[in-house]
Amino acid sequence: MDADAIETLLERKTTLRYLEVKDGRLFFDGCDTIELAKEYGTPVYVMSYSEIMGRLNELKEQFTDKYPKARVAYASKAFCTTGMYEILKKAGACIDVVSGGEIYAAEKAGFPAERVEFNGNNKLPEEIDQAVRYGVGRIILDGLQEIPLIEAACAKYQKKMNIMIRITPGVAASTHDYIVTGKKDSKFGIPLDEDIFLPIVKQVLDSEYLDFTGLHMHIGSQLFENDAYLEALNVLMDWAARIRQEFNADVKEVNFGGGYGATYIDEPRKPYSFFMDPMMELLKKRSEEIGMECPAAVIEPGRSIVAEAGITLYTVGQIKEIPGIRKYVSVDGGMGDNIRVALYQADYKGVVANKAEEQTDATVSLCGKYCESGDILIPEMKVPSSIAQGDIIALLSTGAYGFSMASNYNNNPIPGVVLVKEGKSAWMVKPQSYEQIIANHVIPDFI
Ligand SMILES: Cc1ncc(COP(=O)(O)O)c(C=O)c1O
Repeated sequence: MDADAIETLLERKTTLRYLEVKDGRLFFDGCDTIELAKEYGTPVYVMSYSEIMGRLNELKEQFTDKYPKARVAYASKAFCTTGMYEILKKAGACIDVVSGGEIYAAEKAGFPAERVEFNGNNKLPEEIDQAVRYGVGRIILDGLQEIPLIEAACAKYQKKMNIMIRITPGVAASTHDYIVTGKKDSKFGIPLDEDIFLPIVKQVLDSEYLDFTGLHMHIGSQLFENDAYLEALNVLMDWAARIRQEFNADVKEVNFGGGYGATYIDEPRKPYSFFMDPMMELLKKRSEEIGMECPAAVIEPGRSIVAEAGITLYTVGQIKEIPGIRKYVSVDGGMGDNIRVALYQADYKGVVANKAEEQTDATVSLCGKYCESGDILIPEMKVPSSIAQGDIIALLSTGAYGFSMASNYNNNPIPGVVLVKEGKSAWMVKPQSYEQIIANHVIPDFI
């Protein structure tokens, strides 16, 4: 194996713990990726059970076992399947959902309703009805107009709902603009202008159907520093003090949101304790100053649990050399199974899985098969110069926001997801068929 490739794999070993090279082939959680490609076909998403459980155990050790009443509500949007809900159910985690579809999948998976927390900036009346009927543990209020909708559903089902209020703390986290959510100019959360925020709190407190539980924030995604979290938490606690002063009501829970960074290339991943410990210390200190009981802390990680747990396998098809310019290597997937590159220039690393020990002495552009020039997976990928049709490419760290953002662009089917665990493999999601893609198409009779 050439020095570059060895370095790359060793570097990644700290994070991609279940990736190994044996006899020149890439293995993931004990499974030979070339055999997986043969058995399940490509393109295919492969998720490592051991990596997901490893992250959930880290969260347990560094957060929920360490701090009383602390909860982890996995952000379903990162990767939502009934199998994933089964893993989370067994691990004792909660989940954050943002749509009727995620609620439906959770209910179908038999996920305990009280461990479901419902977020979203425009919850539809029917989604609110669905959440209240199911009996979710928390609704995270994102605007004034949600209140009568929640109350109506509560009246219909004769239930009370725990309400967290999502604030916009006015903090700009350093990450891509598309994944910043905590700055004041945001479609998420309630701005902290007292004539907007306090009447909403009062309305929740006064409602016979709503129980004011606490405050929620989420400042962005793929963050590696804790300063913006601390800044936002300070703002949140200022308002917890204000709520106490105005209404003699206590914030019983604080949700810090998600956003903890994962490794795609070589970003040094920080342990959860790097974020949690200072936040918990600040939460305790500010509660003491305010004279209130320290609220329960909740976090909503998504990406940091599943990003590195996923790889995508593709087969190399056409290779085009544009003399003096570049070589395009096309694979059988692309922006339909991974929109993150086109959407926000996300960076990925890839390996030619059947030539994982060969010297990477050529640079190519790895592109997809979709009809967009922007359908590039890795603009500059180092590969062995022997790269050829039929080789298997593994794109690394694709477990978050890949499958969950997949589309049927060009009527290409959404690939399936295979779960691997210590050499075992099984479908977690079967690949879509052409028939399923057009199942809901109708030809109107006036054509
Ligand atoms: C409210 C909320 N919570 C949690 C998350 C999960 O963030 P991440 O996957 O970066 O941990 C998001 C992501 O957008 C979010 O909007």
